[in-house]
Amino acid sequence: MSDRANQLITDILRRIHEAIVENDVTYEEYQAAKQWFIDVGQAGEWPLFGDVYIEHVVEEHAFGNRAGSQGTILGPFHLPDAPPLEAPFELPHRPEEPGHRTRVSGRVTDAEGTPLAGANLDIWQADAEGRYSGFMPGPPEGNLRGQVRTGADGRYEFTTVIPGPYTIPLDGPTGKMTAAAGWSPWRPAHIHLIVTADGYEALVTQLFIDSSDYLDSDVASAVKPELIVHPEPAGDDGYAITYDFALAAARAPAMA
Ligand code: BEZ
Ligand code: FE
Repeated sequence: MSDRANQLITDILRRIHEAIVENDVTYEEYQAAKQWFIDVGQAGEWPLFGDVYIEHVVEEHAFGNRAGSQGTILGPFHLPDAPPLEAPFELPHRPEEPGHRTRVSGRVTDAEGTPLAGANLDIWQADAEGRYSGFMPGPPEGNLRGQVRTGADGRYEFTTVIPGPYTIPLDGPTGKMTAAAGWSPWRPAHIHLIVTADGYEALVTQLFIDSSDYLDSDVASAVKPELIVHPEPAGDDGYAITYDFALAAARAPAMA
């Protein structure tokens, strides 16, 4: 076993043992917890549980001091290989896609503000009813998922619909644990992005819609004030969101 694994596992187990003693955990509660672990595995919810209740601390601790824009959690609903979009850069959607249309645009720069040409934005989001394609019934495969690149001036733009808030699944063990604790299961409305450019650290982030409910009670604790955007009315019943992303230079690989 490595020193690192030994230290981490020892520390985590010590803290669990302390919590058991401090809270007088009963044998019945231990058996219920054991059944809950089994249920999470059988429901395939360990990634969901981790991304709801643990990932935000890893993200804040790993990237809290990084130059450039704020990131936040990846979550469990990213799918690789979303299609690169051609002009007019519209996220794939149904003909009658519900929700308010919005343009999202801005620049990708380095941490000093120099525009980055050819940066890639991998975008995914829930629909206006809070459903992710590929994971929830309703939207067809690939709905509201796509990639765009910045032009020579570092600018990007795409059009989409304003997403809706959503709950984590309520009938699975993660949702049942959330209800048992009396916590809200909602995530506020947001658009996910991974922004990448050669020579820079990938920025995994989300843009939160300022009019959404649950900004102050995100079940995944992933909202940061710097990531809240204000869709401005932009005519034709549409909106415009503007946001600039600044990327930190890639760190030199550690010496062997
Ligand atoms: C999401 O952002 O899509 C998400 C994050 C954590 C848990 C569930 C969903
Ligand atoms: Fe999400």
